[in-house]
Amino acid sequence: MPINPWSSENIEDYQHLMDEFGMRSFDPTCMEDMPRVMRRGTVVGQRGFSLIKDAIEMGNPYAMLTGLMPSGRMHLGHKMVIDQVIWYQRHGSDTFVSVADMEAFATRGYSLDRARQLALEEYIKNYIALGLKPKKTQIYFQSTRSSVKDLAYTMGKKVNGTQLKEIYGFTDTTSIAHIMAPLIQVGDILHVQLEKYGGPRPTIVPVGLDQDPHIRFTRDLAQAHRIYSIKPLTGEPGLGVFLKGDYTDDKADALLKKAMSALKSNGYEDLTENLPYRQLKVHAATEWDMDNLSIMLSQPEVEMGGYGFYPPSATYHKFMRGLTGGKMSSSKPDTAIFLSDNPREAAAKARRAFTGGRQTLAEQKEKGGEPEKCSIFEMFVNHLVDSDEEVNDIYDRCRNGELMCGTCKKMASERIEELLTGIQEKKSSIEDEWKDYIVDDNCTEQRGD
Ligand code: TRP
Repeated sequence: MPINPWSSENIEDYQHLMDEFGMRSFDPTCMEDMPRVMRRGTVVGQRGFSLIKDAIEMGNPYAMLTGLMPSGRMHLGHKMVIDQVIWYQRHGSDTFVSVADMEAFATRGYSLDRARQLALEEYIKNYIALGLKPKKTQIYFQSTRSSVKDLAYTMGKKVNGTQLKEIYGFTDTTSIAHIMAPLIQVGDILHVQLEKYGGPRPTIVPVGLDQDPHIRFTRDLAQAHRIYSIKPLTGEPGLGVFLKGDYTDDKADALLKKAMSALKSNGYEDLTENLPYRQLKVHAATEWDMDNLSIMLSQPEVEMGGYGFYPPSATYHKFMRGLTGGKMSSSKPDTAIFLSDNPREAAAKARRAFTGGRQTLAEQKEKGGEPEKCSIFEMFVNHLVDSDEEVNDIYDRCRNGELMCGTCKKMASERIEELLTGIQEKKSSIEDEWKDYIVDDNCTEQRGD
């Protein structure tokens, strides 16, 4: 059963993503001072995160990109990504935010104009209120960034209908605009590695688990569009650098020589060129060197006219459960706290929320509560409690029956009221500053519906 990013239900069982699709788990202790969602287990999975960790720790350039689908109102679930975005920004990322107006147009029936208006009022201004800074930041609309659309088109050369059907469950009646949405997202993620936007470098995409099909698709395409591909040699130890595509002998020789000199200067001395097979043998390399080689050959590849894409890295967060126990949904106001909710009404929602409490007080005192099922505890973890000790303490006292739901609800409602009041005050003080964040490379007139 493919995961469908456009109708993501609660993804309870993400273990199968790890098992079937090779996602890795995210280590909540892997770095210092990470935001709550990263250090408390809400971010559960990752691909290629070590590239990002290294870049941050060594102060090397890297890009961070995320996308927002402007549909409905921004709620605390969306804030989980923004907390990460702001953390990456504080750690030197080139920050990109894609407003997925084309995706909203194709999959949700919004006009492009309406999607953009909504993005600005509901999302972008809130991001700024939450602390996103203009430094090294570009917020852009899919529909007005030609590099994104052009890349979507060129990447499409190596995609066919069968693949898309398999990944996304598209059928013969799916509209072509919808079919293009994943390619546009590929364009979003990879365009930040074009020369114009900073060139090939590690790129982190923090997303919800439902977005993994897009990430895998993008990683495959990044690889498919490389000139050099790295594979184990057959029948002998070592790795091979292979040329994909048809090249004349001269061109192939030039490409292999280029790779050879790059690898030599990186300490791989034991190399043999095999021109008829369009192959360079790296005798002393093992499977552990594969990513390394691919990265070493990125810049030489650009010099030879290729893309040199790094496979994009990603982290995946679980979804917050809804306040009423089921799914959180923009169309059901009681299931979520929206950033634009009246703070007192939001507080009241928290007091009505579904918790991990027992049937009776007596039972709860005896058996303890179930914080892992509790929507209030989840808000503490992800949004309302700064200190790890305090969260642990709440967990323990709930489990052993000391802490009752009324106390937690009261605390949650007070903190929510305070949080929303703060965000809304900041948001209402934003006038034209948002313009500093929007970077459009060709603002063409766009028509809606
Ligand atoms: N598809 C994403 C969503 O439904 C939005 C999105 C568009 C996105 N482009 C992206 C997310 C690039 C991450 C990276 O929310």
